[in-house]
Amino acid sequence: MTKIIWMSDPHFQNKGTIDGLNPRLRIKAAIDHMHAQHADADFGIISGDLVGDDIVGDYTGIAFHLAKSKIPMHPMMGNNDDRSGLRAHLALPDQAMPDFVQYVINTDDAAFICLDTQKLGSHAGELCSKRSDWLVQILDALREKPAYIFMHHPPMTLNLPAQDEIMLEKADQFLDLISGYSNVKHLFMGHVHRPTCGTVRGIPFATIGAISFQAPAPRPEWHWDGFVPPAEAPHYGVLHISNGDVTLQYTQFCNYETGFEN
Ligand SMILES: [Fe+2]
Repeated sequence: MTKIIWMSDPHFQNKGTIDGLNPRLRIKAAIDHMHAQHADADFGIISGDLVGDDIVGDYTGIAFHLAKSKIPMHPMMGNNDDRSGLRAHLALPDQAMPDFVQYVINTDDAAFICLDTQKLGSHAGELCSKRSDWLVQILDALREKPAYIFMHHPPMTLNLPAQDEIMLEKADQFLDLISGYSNVKHLFMGHVHRPTCGTVRGIPFATIGAISFQAPAPRPEWHWDGFVPPAEAPHYGVLHISNGDVTLQYTQFCNYETGFEN
């Protein structure tokens, strides 16, 4: 069995707040909670947006926090990330692609494939031909071994009207690709700052809330112009994976108020 701690969207910044929220206190609370309750996890994955909008160079700060984790935490790219900044401060597993933050974590009975779906200059995502060719190579080599794909941008609409505008582009092409592999067991995505689950082309998927601020439910209707995070506590995911079976526990690690103290 593999036990994974899944975190997403910490939107770290070295100083200041996100509308009053100190994201440093949230990542610290998440790691402290993980140490107290899930020290037996094999590893963690952070599915993108390690730093926030237009924040350059804040990887030193998140690297400092992640270095305190007793569980290896694997970083991924989101729309707000900076590839060279991330690579300069955070270690990637061996065999990561040289020019993208894409890699596989292999365990005895499963492969965890972390994709880089950033499209430069856009909040929407892409998987260019270089990255999708790499994915084909990896999936071909796995044969029957169960594969779990982590990616920042969901490759489908989720009926979350605001977030649906900034999903993975050419999603059908991506779904055509993975549909050809019966060993792809589950997709896990960040980006939407909200937990959802479902199936696409018969493949189960889940999204997750953010370590930082959450996104509101789609009703009452809202749009990015008037974006106001709801007063919802953050969570991370605890995944148990064994023989192709998956459980996901969304786990609150602190109160909503944590991070808003003066
Ligand atoms: Fe985000």
